[in-house]
Amino acid sequence: MNQSGVVIRVPAKVNLSLSVGPLDEDGYHELVTVFQAISLFDDVTVKFGVEGSGIALGASGSTAAGVPLDETNLAYKAAQLMVSKYQLDSDIDIHLAKEIPVAGGMAGGSADAAGVIVGIDALYELGLSRDEMQRIGSELGSDVPFGIAGGTAIGRGHGDQLTPVLSQGSYQWVLALSNSGLSTPSVYGECDRLREGMSISRPSANDALLQALRAGDAKELGKSLSNDLQSAACSLRPALRLVLDVGHEYGALGCIVSGSGPTVAFLVEDEERALDLTVALSSSGVVAGVVRATGPTHGARRISSF
Ligand code: C5P
Repeated sequence: MNQSGVVIRVPAKVNLSLSVGPLDEDGYHELVTVFQAISLFDDVTVKFGVEGSGIALGASGSTAAGVPLDETNLAYKAAQLMVSKYQLDSDIDIHLAKEIPVAGGMAGGSADAAGVIVGIDALYELGLSRDEMQRIGSELGSDVPFGIAGGTAIGRGHGDQLTPVLSQGSYQWVLALSNSGLSTPSVYGECDRLREGMSISRPSANDALLQALRAGDAKELGKSLSNDLQSAACSLRPALRLVLDVGHEYGALGCIVSGSGPTVAFLVEDEERALDLTVALSSSGVVAGVVRATGPTHGARRISSF
């Protein structure tokens, strides 16, 4: 099939649990985390560029402001990596239609990189398996493999070694957005600072949470959400505690800072609760925006070719 471009839809993630071990010598922390892909998407268009144009990156959409469009962007790095690994013609035009918050703890940058890998595989007909693409993704960042995989999965190691998790049902999320991001390394650094002098055990799986997912039990899932980075994110951004309070007050089944934050994710029982909480958060004055999503959803996948 001769195609000149593809559009890949990639999801945001929430970490339903995030257990963080001690700081290792490589500057990373060993993790055990449960990811869920949710229905908040970026659409990544990858097409052949005009001859001699090299890799070109553009962005649009509600969260595109401030996204770097040069080689510091993970999507750009993903294209460079694919070009050098497979010795491809490097005139590639990439466009990110962004809805996932930037530096929001929802793996937006990683999702875009995942979209580029899957897009280049499709455009150049490389025929890579999902596993191969995930391995390439892990060279770029800890969350990239999950952007390719989607669904619900446990991440070990740096978060990049994935195993699918048995999960029943669909879960409703209300997401409280902030108007500025938090840097992931700073949040991990703050976590280390808060734990100074404590003996930190190796990270462990959250068995209650895995059982709740197997049973499709939203109430139990809400009770067992956990995030070792939450105190650090709240320490750097104290207003997040006020946001979490709104969720408790309006009967969310569970409230959690997503990954390294500052997005706060509320698990709710049904549409009606989702609407109540959306209104309460929007009028609280403590959030920059509210979006709703369901999970789990698919990983990076092609939605059109042209
Ligand atoms: O892998 P990624 O580039 O997304 O990680 C960004 C930063 O987050 C790392 O430089 C490190 O400071 C922190 N990190 C960590 N342990 C992990 C994953 C990320 O300390 N398992």
